[in-house]
Amino acid sequence: MNTDLQQLHPYPFEKLAELKGGITPPAHLAHIALSIGEPKHEPPEFVLQTFADNLGRFANYPATKGLPELRQAISQWANKRFQLSSGLCAETQVLPVNGTREALFAFAQAVVNRQTANPLVVSPNPFYQIYEGAALLAGAKPHFLNCTADNQFIPDFAAVPASVWRDCQLLYVCTPGNPTGAVISTEQFQQLIELADRYDFVIASDECYSELYQDENAPPPGLLQAASAMGRHDFARCVVFHSLSKRSNLPGLRSGFVAGDADILKKFLQYRTYHGCAMSVPNQLASIAAWQDESHVLANRDAYRAKFKAVLKELGGCLDVSCPEAGFYLWPKLPISGEAFAQKLFAEHNVTVLPGAYLSRQADGLNPGENYVRMALVATEAECIEAARRIRTCVESL
Ligand SMILES: Cc1ncc(COP(=O)(O)O)c(C=O)c1O
Repeated sequence: MNTDLQQLHPYPFEKLAELKGGITPPAHLAHIALSIGEPKHEPPEFVLQTFADNLGRFANYPATKGLPELRQAISQWANKRFQLSSGLCAETQVLPVNGTREALFAFAQAVVNRQTANPLVVSPNPFYQIYEGAALLAGAKPHFLNCTADNQFIPDFAAVPASVWRDCQLLYVCTPGNPTGAVISTEQFQQLIELADRYDFVIASDECYSELYQDENAPPPGLLQAASAMGRHDFARCVVFHSLSKRSNLPGLRSGFVAGDADILKKFLQYRTYHGCAMSVPNQLASIAAWQDESHVLANRDAYRAKFKAVLKELGGCLDVSCPEAGFYLWPKLPISGEAFAQKLFAEHNVTVLPGAYLSRQADGLNPGENYVRMALVATEAECIEAARRIRTCVESL
């Protein structure tokens, strides 16, 4: 077997199952899960209908590159959303993917050159677990940059030593961040692009939460937008990852896209052709319908805003927590370890949250997730409010 497999960490939910193992929560309280980042709002009916209307297309093998109509719909969406003045080329700068998870993983396999002395993949910390597994299986070493309250949960890129940038082949960023909801600014993106030029690495910007923002007048900027504003219409060294999972409540559809540097995408397409991960035609046609509609996304944002408002009101100062700029997570700081809190909350109140340390690693002498938990506001508003009440009781009993 591939010995790199031994380096993979247990997935956070395995650790969570172990933490909860043997505990019997109070039977009179219904269980509320705030642990998994799976959207629970209704998927758009017209998207499901489009899928259903095209079941006959399962008779065809799909092309890995996707239908031209899908790549066109994606480029039109991205051009408008990110004000890409010269426009994404649907032929060379866009590829459909079966959700960003597989794409984020596969991308490292295609990008990393394991023949070099010390290949590094740089990642935020805490982070979406796929970045680490992708790095390890690509033969690289993950290098973590802590995201703490002191740096507004955005890595301090300027403080990273030149030696790290010299070995860095791939940098993952996540904006809006999972779990913190922090958003990378255009200026920060532009500093990263300059660093990528200077040290010759690729930036993979995971923007799968980009459409779930709080302020209708301030949607989070994207990496391609920052590149375009610098006049870099070839998006050299820049690739973004977008998804319908969170934007359109379609986590089971498995639909997203990557876009950016045409030279990189050409190689990535070659990798994907061998990998065998083409998107089915009914999925592609349903995805076109989803990318072409914004009204369901607006309703989705409104629903999350209502939940954030209600939950934060209910928590009202009992925890060190604030409304994130975007995403659907709360990331409260606790007076005890996140693990101890999650266990107590489950044991006494039948609410599951995810200990922050399951999403982070020790780096530079600290584990930035240690005293945090992640709460996904994906359940119904009534359940989220009920969970917040129980959380308050739990905190007050500490
Ligand atoms: C930060 C981040 N990136 C990527 C994904 C993967 O999403 P999908 O594969 O559904 O597009 C998730 C899912 O939870 C996520 O939180």
